[in-house]
Amino acid sequence: MIWNARNALGMTEFIPAGDIDENTEYITTGSSELNRILGGGFQTGKLTEVYGPFKSGKTNLAHTIAVTIQLPKSKGGLGSAVAYIDTENTFSKEKIKHIAKRFGLVPKKVLSQIYHARIYSSDHQSQMIQKAETLCKTRNMRLIVVDSLMALLRAEYVGIGMLARRQSFLNNMIHALSRILETYNCAILLTNQVSTKMMGMFSGNDAIGGNSDKIFHQSLLNRSPWLPFQSYVQDKGVLFEQFAEA
Ligand SMILES: Nc1ncnc2c1ncn2[C@@H]1O[C@H](COP(=O)(O)OP(=O)(O)O)[C@@H](O)[C@H]1O
Ligand SMILES: [Mg+2]
Repeated sequence: MIWNARNALGMTEFIPAGDIDENTEYITTGSSELNRILGGGFQTGKLTEVYGPFKSGKTNLAHTIAVTIQLPKSKGGLGSAVAYIDTENTFSKEKIKHIAKRFGLVPKKVLSQIYHARIYSSDHQSQMIQKAETLCKTRNMRLIVVDSLMALLRAEYVGIGMLARRQSFLNNMIHALSRILETYNCAILLTNQVSTKMMGMFSGNDAIGGNSDKIFHQSLLNRSPWLPFQSYVQDKGVLFEQFAEA
């Protein structure tokens, strides 16, 4: 039955790579330079992780995209709603209103299109990620923001002994998000704080929980067309990575 069902859905044929329908849509960040670094803006069908130190502007960027996605297509948005999964209680209506005015949108209407959930535990986070799927079906929702991805997991899974369980939980969340973005061609924005890895004189900043996701990552900084921006991006202290589901 399963094999026949796959047949009926056309899942059992190899197709030439040229015929793959990527169907990517772009959402403006409000900054032409950042759009360029991201290859045209935030992309649908991709998980985009923004990571940087505390106070580097990750939440601000998440607020901005939550507004710009509501712009009409002619102005760089998708005219759609947003699910905002807020694990750090840093969502601000005031900030949204300011950003809405900047883009010439009516603040009250913009707020009515952002479906916000304050999250209290990692299990709750996982539940609300699944719940976000219903918004895709019923509310024309095309963007899920998770700000931040790891904050609660860090607090709940402490120490090296918990690492395997933490990464497995993280993988489950990432796969749930991947399924949603593939089904509904959504954009997904994850924020993540960096921590310093203490390795003597080679200490450096790394995204928390980054190891398991690294498989999917394609660092923008390693792509040659953007190399001149490496120092610009590093000065700002924010790194961007876009990765498609493998
Ligand atoms: N593009 C920006 N222009 C001006 N101020 C900004 C900008 N981005 C962030 N800020 C300010 O920097 C501070 C930290 O930003 P926030 O987005 O909360 O950082 P993070 O989420 O990375 O900790 C806030 O007070 C915010 O208003
Ligand atoms: Mg923040």
